[in-house]
Amino acid sequence: MNNFEFKNPTKVIFGKDTIAKLSEEIPADAKVLLLYGGGSIKKNGIYDQVKTALSNVNVTEFGGIPANPEYAVLMEALKVIKDKEITYLLAVGGGSVIDGTKFLSAAALYDGDTPWDILTQNIKTEKGMPFGTVLTLPATGSEMNSGSVITRKETQEKLAMGGPGLFPVFSILDPQVITSIPERQLANGLTDAFTHVLEQYMTYPIGARLQDRFAESILQTLIEVAPNVIKDPTDYKAAADFMWSCTMALNGLIQKGVPTDWAVHAIGHELTAMFGIDHARTLAVIAPSHYKFNFEAKKEKLAQYAERVWNVTEGSIDDKAYAAIEKTEAFFKELGIDTKLSDYTGDYEGTAEKISKRFTDRGWEGLGEHQSLTPDNVEKIVKMAY
Ligand code: NZQ
Ligand code: ZN
Repeated sequence: MNNFEFKNPTKVIFGKDTIAKLSEEIPADAKVLLLYGGGSIKKNGIYDQVKTALSNVNVTEFGGIPANPEYAVLMEALKVIKDKEITYLLAVGGGSVIDGTKFLSAAALYDGDTPWDILTQNIKTEKGMPFGTVLTLPATGSEMNSGSVITRKETQEKLAMGGPGLFPVFSILDPQVITSIPERQLANGLTDAFTHVLEQYMTYPIGARLQDRFAESILQTLIEVAPNVIKDPTDYKAAADFMWSCTMALNGLIQKGVPTDWAVHAIGHELTAMFGIDHARTLAVIAPSHYKFNFEAKKEKLAQYAERVWNVTEGSIDDKAYAAIEKTEAFFKELGIDTKLSDYTGDYEGTAEKISKRFTDRGWEGLGEHQSLTPDNVEKIVKMAY
C-alpha cells in the first residue's frame, strides 16, 4: 500500500427522520443562507421539514440552482451572501446544490476579483464559509467530500475545484428522501456511485487487499440493491444501503493508499459541458471504451473484479477482463442507461477532436493512473464511444 494521510471532518447524521436534527447542528447566532435547486424539495416535504427545524434561526433563501450548477446563478447567490452578511450556508439538495454551495463557501472568502479563477487556476480552498448539507439524492458523495464541479454555459466549460476547507461541517442523510426521486435520477445515482468506485479501483494491483475489498463490497452492494431501489424507492432497507454506498464510494476512504484513475470523469465532464448529458450517463458512455482502450494496463484488476464482483470463474485473465467490461455495460443498460454517445445526440461528429484539443489547451497531458493518457488517446477513446 502507498503511504497516505486521511482526514475527513464531516459529521454524518444518518437515518430515518434525522432532518429534525438540523436545529442541533447550526449555531444559534448564524445568519444562514438556505440553498436549493429547482423546487423538488417544496413538493416532497423536505423543505417543510427543514423550515420547521430552523424555526428559531435567521434564514434567507436562495432557490433555483440548476442541475450542473451554473456559475452565473451562483454569482447571484454570492451577491445575496455579501448583501445579507451571511455567515453559514445550508445546501438542501443533490450533488448540484451541494457543489454549488461549496463554490459559494470558497467564493465568499476569496480575495481575488473573479471567483471563476478558483476553477481555472486550480486554487485549493484552505478555508471556506462553514456549511452543512441535507442530502436529497444519493449519487455523488459530495455530502462527505471536499470536491465540487461547476458549469459555465457561456463558455461550455465544466471544471472541478476543492480543497481541505470545503468539507461540509455536517451532512444529514435520511434515506427516506429517495421516495420522490424520479427513476431516471435513481439510475443516475447508482451509475455515478458505481463509476466512482471503478475510478479508484480499476487501475493495477498493488496488493492493497483491504482497499480492494472495500471497493468490491460497495460495488456488490450497489448491484444487489439496484433492482429494489428502482422498483420500490419506499423500500427503506434498500434505500439505506444505496445512500450509504454512494457516500462511501467517494468520501476519500477507498482511494487512500492506492492508484486512482479519474479519466472517465474528466472526459465525461466535457460531454456534459458540450451536450448537457446527465453526469452519470456520460460515465456510462466513456467507461466501456476507456477500459477497452486501456485493456492491457487494466486487465489484472478487470479480471479480479470479474471474479469477485460478477462471479466470472471461467477462462483466462483476458477472458475474465473482457467479461468484466461486458458485465459493467450490461449493468448500466439494465438500469436504463444508454452507453453510446450517439444514443444521446446525432451531433457527435468532431466531439473527440474537440475534447482532445480542450485537454491540450489546458495543458492536460497525462490522464489516468499512470498519467500517460495523452489528448490523442482521449480522442481515440471518445471515438470508440460514438
Ligand atoms: O433541482 P431539484 O428540483 O431539486 O431537482 C433535482 C434535479 O432535477 C432532482 N432531485 C434531487 N433530489 C430529489 C430530486 N427530485 C425528487 N426528489 C428528490 N429527493 O434530481 C435532479 C438532479 O439533481 P443533481 O443534484 O443535479 O444530481 P446529482 O446528485 O447526480 O449531482 C450531479 C452533479 O454533481 C457533480 C456532477 O458533475 C453534477 O454536476 N458531481 C459532483 C461530485 C462531487 N462533488 O464529489 C462528484 C461527481 O462525480 C460529480 O461530478
Ligand atoms: Zn461522478
